[in-house]
Amino acid sequence: MKNLQILVVEDESLVAKDIANMVRGLGYNVSAVVSTGEEAIAIAGKSQPDIILMDIVLKGRIDGIEAAQHIWENFSIPVVYLTAYADEATLQRAKVTEPFGYILKPFDERELQTTIEMAFFKAQMEKKLRERERWLSTVLRSIGDGVIAVDRNGRVTFMNGVAEKLTGWSQDEILMKPLSGFIQIPEAGEGADAAVSESVLTMRDGTPITIEQSVSPIYDEKKENFGSVHIIRDIRARKKTEEEIRQSYARHQKALNGTIQAIGLTIEMRDPYTAGHQHRVSKLSCAIAEEMGVETTRIEGIRMAADIHDIGKIYVPAEILSKPGRLSDIEMSIIRTHSQVGYDILKNIEFPWPIAQIVYQHHEREDGTGYPNALKGEDILFEARIISVADVVEAMSSHRPYRPAPGTEKALNEIRRGRGTQYDANVVDACIRLFQEKNFKFE
Ligand SMILES: [Fe+2]
Repeated sequence: MKNLQILVVEDESLVAKDIANMVRGLGYNVSAVVSTGEEAIAIAGKSQPDIILMDIVLKGRIDGIEAAQHIWENFSIPVVYLTAYADEATLQRAKVTEPFGYILKPFDERELQTTIEMAFFKAQMEKKLRERERWLSTVLRSIGDGVIAVDRNGRVTFMNGVAEKLTGWSQDEILMKPLSGFIQIPEAGEGADAAVSESVLTMRDGTPITIEQSVSPIYDEKKENFGSVHIIRDIRARKKTEEEIRQSYARHQKALNGTIQAIGLTIEMRDPYTAGHQHRVSKLSCAIAEEMGVETTRIEGIRMAADIHDIGKIYVPAEILSKPGRLSDIEMSIIRTHSQVGYDILKNIEFPWPIAQIVYQHHEREDGTGYPNALKGEDILFEARIISVADVVEAMSSHRPYRPAPGTEKALNEIRRGRGTQYDANVVDACIRLFQEKNFKFE
């Protein structure tokens, strides 16, 4: 580092000359030699030397320590003190200004060289560190989330603008004060990585705001925790949108349910003797599903499919539907088309559940004796297996123009008889439990 420019500040001209010569002798350039602190400040600002060798005791209004402080703060030029007096008070004052070196007069070339090189190196490092800090704090300030850093005692060491806005506190107000005294945010867990969680932050004015927050502990190179960083994000707008979507979904769901029920009622209008059949099957199906622990959304699908499971009967002439007495084989085969017709009507509607398939399969039987496709066991949708049991139980519990109601007891005997063969055993068990233990009744 032979090309360093060095400013010498020394009020005794002979000593100043000596030092300048020694500096040149070491291969450095002497940019100027001045004798007061004021001159040192003026020249340093103008010529920007790499290092300043500064006598502490100077003539003039300010001494070397004051001049050094001003120079480092304003021009970031490192200062090495030279002094003949090493009294405790002076040393103490000098120390506060964080000097880059300190040489007691008289000194030799070697000592001077080492001190200059060390001072220059230290200054370079310090500049890099400052740049790094500036970079980091710019990044943190421009992040869209609120950032609050605390030390290991929970005292605030940093807060960005977003965090200031979110909390209502400024960094200046709470810097180095305990965060918990101002803002309530959960602490970092032991060795926890930043897990994002939702919580409520109370602003300075008492306004509660929903935030998403994470907290990460900071570790030093010895893996010791020396604080943590809180990231907070205002999610009020998102929450509002989510709530609007939820409400809109609920409205649509209600409208869809209403529409399905209206269709169900329309079909039954043609056959007053079975009025309410689908709705009652729907109630029982949902109760069975609930009894079996089926999740709520799936039950919604069962409710909807059951409400219109006989929609295909729209295709069956009313005379056949309401005909008293036994049906002929042809009439029976016409009635049996209702599963296929129901499927054809519904297959192109995109429900969140396989409604068309459930309707299609509601007369299938576990052992393959059902219609229209003689499906067996697991090939039949679970929802259809529930509805088929409920359908039989409801039909046998209700009056028909051509026969009195066999009654619930007979209906339960029928599903008991077909348990595990025609009907899903678990569905049958759940259905029987409902009637015998849970007092289920058709309305
Ligand atoms: Fe049916």
